[in-house]
Amino acid sequence: MQVVNKGDKVKVRVKVNGVWYERYVSPRMLLVDFIRDELGLTGTKVGCDTTTCGACTVLLDGKSVKSCTIFAVQADGSEITTIEGLSVDSKLHPIQEAFRDNFALQCGFCTSGMIMQTYFLLKQNPNPSEEEIRDGLHGNICRCTGYQNIIRAVIDASKRLRA
Ligand code: FES
Ligand code: FES
Repeated sequence: MQVVNKGDKVKVRVKVNGVWYERYVSPRMLLVDFIRDELGLTGTKVGCDTTTCGACTVLLDGKSVKSCTIFAVQADGSEITTIEGLSVDSKLHPIQEAFRDNFALQCGFCTSGMIMQTYFLLKQNPNPSEEEIRDGLHGNICRCTGYQNIIRAVIDASKRLRA
């Protein structure tokens, strides 16, 4: 980590959705604010800022993290995937299609975090049981209480990815 004098900013260099970015930011900037405000990737949401809701979930070096829980400087040198990185050539990822087709979006505020956590879950366990899905998503809160459709969407997504 390189600290520069001007305004006590710190250089952060990260690879996000396959593209390297370099910015000088406050050492106290949260990763979620870096992603949204510095990089303009607003698909990642802030729901609570207290590590409760999971709306800010992204993948950091392949692991799902709540990006309101770590500082941007802690991600220096890492690879990050956000919801914007899942679709290819404007074609939705099968998990996104499954959420859409199973009416798991509702207000949609929690959706990108749910989808990123689902992506991580299905990488670990391509054919999870309903109990395993509930367990895997327990750190993500949907305030629309729409969990049933979300569970259905994850089961559907697991089938699509295994087809
Ligand atoms: S905004 Fe990060 S867990 Fe809620
Ligand atoms: S869809 Fe509204 S909070 Fe989950």
